[in-house]
Amino acid sequence: KRGIIIDCDPGHDDAMAILWALASSNLEIKAVTTVAGNQTIEKVTNNAIRVLTKAKQLHIPVAVGAKEPLIRKLVIGGELVHGESGLEGPVLPENGFAPVEISALKLMEKILEESEEKITLVGIGPLTNIAQLLITRPELKQKIEEIYIMGGGTIGNWTPAAEYNIFADPEAAKVVFNSELPIVMAGLDVTQKAYITREENEILRAQGNEMSIFVAELIDYFSRYHYEVEGFPGCTLHDPCAIAALVHPELFESVQCNVDVEVTGELTRGMTVVDTVDYQKKLFGKKVVRNTKFLTGVHREEFVKTFFEAM
Ligand code: BDR
Ligand code: CA
Repeated sequence: KRGIIIDCDPGHDDAMAILWALASSNLEIKAVTTVAGNQTIEKVTNNAIRVLTKAKQLHIPVAVGAKEPLIRKLVIGGELVHGESGLEGPVLPENGFAPVEISALKLMEKILEESEEKITLVGIGPLTNIAQLLITRPELKQKIEEIYIMGGGTIGNWTPAAEYNIFADPEAAKVVFNSELPIVMAGLDVTQKAYITREENEILRAQGNEMSIFVAELIDYFSRYHYEVEGFPGCTLHDPCAIAALVHPELFESVQCNVDVEVTGELTRGMTVVDTVDYQKKLFGKKVVRNTKFLTGVHREEFVKTFFEAM
């Protein structure tokens, strides 16, 4: 089994990503660590615990992470999209357990130190915790297999240029993309293609088991924003794409290229700059580090079918 740590800010799509990982027989979730983003750190931590409680996975440690970005003020992402609790919609159980007493950073360190196998990190919120780990314990990079990220893209959803997770903590994202670790990036270019229509959601609900009904209710709430504000053809499954890319890479098209993060631009702060053309190399012979597997497309119907089977 491949050991993973899910660093997240649940969030409806974070919740679905956790559930998909739980359903994947070749993954073992070593920990769920939380980061302020879609809601405050208290709320997203509660949500992570409630989702694991709902799934009867009380043994997976949850650790509280950064309550704000590395140097910026926290911009809560989820008021409109995820509601006041960060996970509005379905009825959630009370917390079935408490977070561990050490911080997300310390728990990540401990897991990496103690693991004989390399661990894969999945970052589906602002990248603050992961950046802190890479900054404070660079020698632990050798214990990290890959980093899967939901974030960024050649388009934005918070500003015209920037996707929320990267916009929220661009300095952290820059550290991660420049870490020299292999990165797989599920940005908006692919996640906006990974949608579920209302009709398809009824098929999920009709599967009739406790989790499929729960997830259909998550989608009911989450899809409102995608239809009403964004005008999309369905509910966009951003964060589950990061898990799907790990478990079912054949569902995606991708290109290996350089990705870096704009941290100072007046209009473009938090934009991921995706170089699929290598111009600097072609024109000036500069070395280009293709640090990222950038996902460009998804076989949507197969993706939806695979997701439904997992639920
Ligand atoms: C990202 O922001 C959050 O709303 C979602 O959970 C996802 O991680 C999409 O931009
Ligand atoms: Ca998220």
